[in-house]
Amino acid sequence: MKNSDIQRVLVSEAEIKEIVANMGRQITDDFAGEELLVVCILKGSCVFFSDLVREIDSPVKFDFMVLSSYGNSSTSSRYVNIIHDLSTDIKGKNVLVVEDIIDSGRTLKCLKEILLKRQPAKLKIATMLNKPDRREVEIVSDYVGKDIPDEFVVGYGLDYAQNYRNLKDICVLAKEVYQK
Ligand code: IMP
Ligand code: MG
Repeated sequence: MKNSDIQRVLVSEAEIKEIVANMGRQITDDFAGEELLVVCILKGSCVFFSDLVREIDSPVKFDFMVLSSYGNSSTSSRYVNIIHDLSTDIKGKNVLVVEDIIDSGRTLKCLKEILLKRQPAKLKIATMLNKPDRREVEIVSDYVGKDIPDEFVVGYGLDYAQNYRNLKDICVLAKEVYQK
């Protein structure tokens, strides 16, 4: 990675820590000691997931899903396919889906419909980032870390063409990187 790939830091490591700690406290309060199945949507939310679960002070279990992604493009794909499904039967369970970012909203809307058919007791969504200006379908996230403007961001799990996921800050990617 070149330094010039990054235009600017949008959410710093310190701000991320504060956001995640607050969200964890809120989730702990809302579930008040009830068991929670926390679902990590790979790959983008793995870093956020790992931090968030350690801020939840209730019994949790983990599960993982892989959904179809943007591939190497920075524009939204229309449909969601499950590439790797949960290994847990969620019927009657409290489920918290952890997502990195809500953009058009299509991924989560589609996923929510699929998971609701499996009859969980509760189904909640936590997203680190939200781009309200990009929304194409209606979807409400129960926990939102931060609303951000319509810019392509990387870091803290988020990628462009599988790169930059390990950056500690959430950064705006320089347009030259994807407008080549
Ligand atoms: P949606 O279905 O349009 O809401 O897209 C959500 C998915 O698109 C996220 O889980 C990300 O994988 C990807 N995505 C959307 N915006 C960005 C971004 O700014 N940077 C990196 N990935 C993004
Ligand atoms: Mg994703």
